[in-house]
Amino acid sequence: MKYNIALLKGDGIGPEIVDSAVRVLEKIGAKYGHEFCFTSYLIGGAAIDACGEPLPKETVEGCLASDSVLLGAVGGPKWDTLPGNCRPEKALLGIRAAMGLFTNLRPAKLYPALKDECPLRADIVENGFDIMIVRELTGGIYFGERGMRQGKWGEEAYDTECYSRMEIERIAKVAFETALKRNKRVISIDKANVLESSRLWRKIMHETAEKYPTVQYSDMLVDNAAMELVRNPAQFDVVVTSNMFGDILSDEASQITGSIGMLPSASLGETARGLYEPIHGSAPDIAGQHKANPIATILSAGMMLLHSFGLSKENADIVNAVDAVLAAGYRTADLSHGAPYLSTEEITDKILEQI
Ligand code: IPM
Ligand code: MG
Repeated sequence: MKYNIALLKGDGIGPEIVDSAVRVLEKIGAKYGHEFCFTSYLIGGAAIDACGEPLPKETVEGCLASDSVLLGAVGGPKWDTLPGNCRPEKALLGIRAAMGLFTNLRPAKLYPALKDECPLRADIVENGFDIMIVRELTGGIYFGERGMRQGKWGEEAYDTECYSRMEIERIAKVAFETALKRNKRVISIDKANVLESSRLWRKIMHETAEKYPTVQYSDMLVDNAAMELVRNPAQFDVVVTSNMFGDILSDEASQITGSIGMLPSASLGETARGLYEPIHGSAPDIAGQHKANPIATILSAGMMLLHSFGLSKENADIVNAVDAVLAAGYRTADLSHGAPYLSTEEITDKILEQI
């Protein structure tokens, strides 16, 4: 089979980690007889520098014409002072919306080989944890009405959290369907004790839960969830939450896996075409130093094989190769504690050897 993949390398460490994932995909292609064709498009700061806007039209068109999209990261200090609408991050929100990617799957699990990296007490993570965060990705405060105005105390700025029944119903369905393929537990996270939008969220989650009698369902307030994630992470299976709570809680979840350099993600919509990216940012402080951990991006490419192309065996090969490399003790800088470490390219070589 031939697959056309759009590459959005972006800024900072983006190009390095995407190059690593491309090498892994090429190896998988050679092993299984798939042809992966890659086309790069500009996004983020790189696009601002080249053509004055963070998400050029050609990029959107190229992504929509592709079978799937692999993204590195966007942003950096060079573009931090631009107005909100022109920032690199705006491109990320723009491409998610343009592709209709309302679901963001962010798996966070503890690798046995990285147990010592987990900042939690050994008895808390004795049995590990394996969480699937289902983050709503094209609604809520990220996309709500916003602006500047004169208020009671003069100049003020506002952003609004708004969720429609349709948006909540479709993400709820994804969460419950995902749970059916896992440990059949869903915890929905909201702030229903304060927010009207959360009360509608909770109501619709309950309605959906009734349609899935084999799934164990409960609600949790987001402040409590932030606490429970570090008190007892093993209690979570599927976590479903809004765009902003999902953004925050997935970073917290990444820290208890040992490094944010490990967490992949899949952004999905109604079609097979998705956008796959590490959950971490562009790390401009280490860009170009061959220090970046490419594993989150490599695992994101694996998620693409699974979710967009239905190639589960090929994805399993990537996951197993990463497991084997970590189990053999190979580490990137983020996991090395000052000890000698493998460069981005070297750890990629080790993963390739296992495929
Ligand atoms: C993420 C990132 C983005 C988000 C930023 C860069 C816009 O933090 O993918 O988690 O908030 O969604
Ligand atoms: Mg984030």
